[in-house]
Amino acid sequence: MTLSLSLGKEPVCMSRIKTVVSEVCRRYGNTRTRLMDMVRDVQEALGHVPREAFDLIAQEANTHRVEVESVVSFYAFLSEQKKGDVIIRLCDDIIDTYQGGAAVAEALTQALGIGFDATTRDGKITLEKTPSIGMSDQAPAMLVNDVVVTSLTPEKIPGLVATLRKTGDPQSLVEGFGDGNNAHPLIRSMVCNNIRESGAVILADYRRERGLRKTLTQSPEDVIADMKVSGLRGRGGAGFLTGLKWELTRESAGAEKFVLCNADEGEPGTFKDRVLLTERADLLFEGMTIAGYAIGAETGIVYLRGEYAYLRRYLEDVLNKRREAHLLGNGILGNADFRFDVRIQMGAGAYLCGEETSLIRSCEGTRGDPTDRTPFPVAKGYLVSPTAVNNVETYCCAARIMDQGAGWFAAIGTPRSTGTKLLSVSGDCARQGIYEVPFGTTVREVLKRAGAEDTAAVQVGGPSGQMVGPAQFDQPISFEGLSTGGSFMVFSNERDILEVVEASMQFFVDESCGYCVPCRVGNVLLKSRVERIRKGEGTPADLAYLQNLGESVKRMSRCGLGQTSPNPILSTLRNFRPVYNALVRENKSGLQKSFNIMQAVEDASKIAERRSEVFHA
Ligand SMILES: Cc1cc2nc3c(=O)[nH]c(=O)nc-3n(C[C@H](O)[C@H](O)[C@H](O)COP(=O)(O)O)c2cc1C
Ligand code: SF4
Repeated sequence: MTLSLSLGKEPVCMSRIKTVVSEVCRRYGNTRTRLMDMVRDVQEALGHVPREAFDLIAQEANTHRVEVESVVSFYAFLSEQKKGDVIIRLCDDIIDTYQGGAAVAEALTQALGIGFDATTRDGKITLEKTPSIGMSDQAPAMLVNDVVVTSLTPEKIPGLVATLRKTGDPQSLVEGFGDGNNAHPLIRSMVCNNIRESGAVILADYRRERGLRKTLTQSPEDVIADMKVSGLRGRGGAGFLTGLKWELTRESAGAEKFVLCNADEGEPGTFKDRVLLTERADLLFEGMTIAGYAIGAETGIVYLRGEYAYLRRYLEDVLNKRREAHLLGNGILGNADFRFDVRIQMGAGAYLCGEETSLIRSCEGTRGDPTDRTPFPVAKGYLVSPTAVNNVETYCCAARIMDQGAGWFAAIGTPRSTGTKLLSVSGDCARQGIYEVPFGTTVREVLKRAGAEDTAAVQVGGPSGQMVGPAQFDQPISFEGLSTGGSFMVFSNERDILEVVEASMQFFVDESCGYCVPCRVGNVLLKSRVERIRKGEGTPADLAYLQNLGESVKRMSRCGLGQTSPNPILSTLRNFRPVYNALVRENKSGLQKSFNIMQAVEDASKIAERRSEVFHA
């Protein structure tokens, strides 16, 4: 007898679940470490991952049901609930909000006749919100399944919804293609690159594979020495020396070593890796191959964020063409002793997976929980083997260094921050987009080039970076000055700085994995205190509270997310003190006028994820 399960609108047939699970798991060799791919593919086939599939997947992948369950519950793009055939995910970043996102959200609810986190009555369309999708320069934007729809206005929404209802095909929403490879038959996207300024290193014209050819004439040790002389530091944010990272990975004991590329790009306001993946995929793979040669690895993995799934087919095609051209695989460029290949690991909507230990866990097929950083990935990373994790831009720089020389690269930028940096400029300026600037360029100079006038603040490095005001605009973009993984969000005098701070804190509250108390609870408390100050209910003591708690959360959190999450508050307390001072008032009565016990209990209940019986009886 065939059992039918009515989990959503459409009953799911148990025999179909079995067939799908078995086929999908076989596709990945029934290997436990490919659990992410299995779960993603089961969802693609069935529209969700029904609970009834958990045991089946666990059996097929030789793992436990709890592992499957925890993967499905961890990633925002995975679901055990049946959703619509089409899922609309509207980006709710602060930049999108300021570009008219709220009106677009309202238009979507009107046109669909549902609120957010709901599905239309016919079960066809689900409406959700999502954080940064890497499109801040063409906001407001949304994902419709894997299709990106940009530059939305409320007026466009009824037509888009009508088309979607008629065709059921998200691709039908794309009326024209963006520039460059966005129009490639395997991408077919309306996304625009918006490259405003190319610099000498990454976006300059270059001769393909010359860096790799030169690499293969040198010893791996000499390649690492070149990286060291170039002064290249990681472009993902932390700025660790790439040559040293490769050397440590090479020297660590392990039969197998791995090269991982961090293409998670989840920091709000960042989109430069998206442009590199679109326009410089060969340069990226060349850089990864050079890294493989230098550290002695045969396998590379690109961790591609779920939001960039629309680029996957194109990237797979580039990889295939490289295999055909003997730039990947066995005997690369006739070098019999060197084999290296790259696979793509899809993410599924988790900012935390950009943190390198979380990314490694995700590549291993589990939840993206961060792990303690001793041992470091260079010693014990992917599959407990020595692993170099680098950003997309870092690998692109490495290929150019091998082509043009370490000295050439070191002469660009500043002595401690060599080369150029790609900035993703968005917000209140005339020319949003990508700028490749030498390190040492000041904030003021970038603002001028981007046509920003009347600027009150720039969030350099996204929410985890620093909010700076006019008094800091002469500071240079550099690791020793203002460091950024790429995000450069501009806010004019019309904006409420503390609204930006509150939105940033909400982002961290949503993205915290909840493992450690300082991050899980501290960020909720920090956010609610900012909220109170914005309402005019704060006192000067609240500012000291924010400072102290913010510093504690930074110091006591386990991973980089918690260690940077108070930055929006701490940097604005430092650089925008008058904004806070204007909102807080001494409470002369000594009583806390704003204290509301029901509200306080509500906050505590939210933190504990439990409602109080006494107060809610
Ligand atoms: C919460 C969090 C998110 C991160 N997201 C990214 C990311 O999207 N891309 C990236 O390259 N690095 C990201 N990082 C930094 C990585 O952990 C790691 O330092 C980087 O990938 C190393 O590459 P690099 O040396 O080339 O910069 C993130 C760190 C944290 C704490
Ligand atoms: S700091 Fe936050 S994200 Fe990191 S482990 Fe702790 S709770 Fe999770």
